Amino acid sequence: MAKIKTGVKVFAPASIANVAVGYDILGFAIDKPGDEIIVNFSDTPGLKITEIRGAKGKLPFEVLKNTAGFAAQKMLEHIGEERRGLEMKIHKKMPFGSGLGSSAASAAAGVMAVNEILGRPLTKSQMLPFAVLGEQIADGAYHADNVGPSLLGGMQLIRSNDTLDIHRLHVPKGLYATVIYPHIKVLTKDSRSILSDQTSLKQCIEQTGNIAGFIVGLYNGDFDLIGRSLQDVIIEPQRAQLIPHFYEVKDAVLEAGALGCSISGAGPSIFALSANSLIAEQVGEVMTRIFTNHKIKNELFISTINQEGAILI
Ligand code: HSE
Repeated sequence: MAKIKTGVKVFAPASIANVAVGYDILGFAIDKPGDEIIVNFSDTPGLKITEIRGAKGKLPFEVLKNTAGFAAQKMLEHIGEERRGLEMKIHKKMPFGSGLGSSAASAAAGVMAVNEILGRPLTKSQMLPFAVLGEQIADGAYHADNVGPSLLGGMQLIRSNDTLDIHRLHVPKGLYATVIYPHIKVLTKDSRSILSDQTSLKQCIEQTGNIAGFIVGLYNGDFDLIGRSLQDVIIEPQRAQLIPHFYEVKDAVLEAGALGCSISGAGPSIFALSANSLIAEQVGEVMTRIFTNHKIKNELFISTINQEGAILI
């Protein structure tokens, strides 16, 4: 007799968007933290969210107001399964408003879990537009620089967010990310709203040189070039004011040997890339010490670039 599938559990990882030089078009996944979503069949038609853990009552149970629920619902409508009885349990295992792609991880895990329980009607690439729609309800913008890596894994370049023309980039062996989350509240919506929509030609030339250099550095395993290229002349100078002690951390981290350091997504988390795990750990100690000295609670994550993205667990 065929085994009846009763439920699935999916993990989707945190992600670092922008990576200094690619505002809205570049991001990578890390191993931890991440969100878990469990989906079971139910006798009542339609998708319901029956449990949310780890969100301190701050996330909506209403499917169309919840990033994971909205993403999954739009995907169910697309495949004609919106009457299917499904119960979703969301276990937030990462902070939101942290710059670690929390809403994106929920959206990625949501579509992946529903797709799994229905016997995988879609590929990950086909699920991506629905996950992006889910994240859009959190910050109002349609961009895949968190959702793309969280769902697909790896370092992802989004040539166009409109068409989701997305490409996995080669990552050289040894590249490590160190990420610190200082417990300060920065909402992505607010962090986006302070940005000027004017950019000078000079800034454009510098930033395009840097993103091109960064990608060449990744493909050639040229860590010096990666380091020279990780300089954001457009977004970081505008957002740094939202994160207390940002430049103190950045200067100390570069002094400790990191290749580069900038704001993770919309902040307040700060990330650094290093050429090996030893430097990544030293960088982590420096980051922790500074925020702790300033009496700001913080959490540290050290990881290679996660190549798997959302997985069944
Ligand atoms: N690219 C986005 C931003 C990532 O920096 O606003 C956060 O959602």
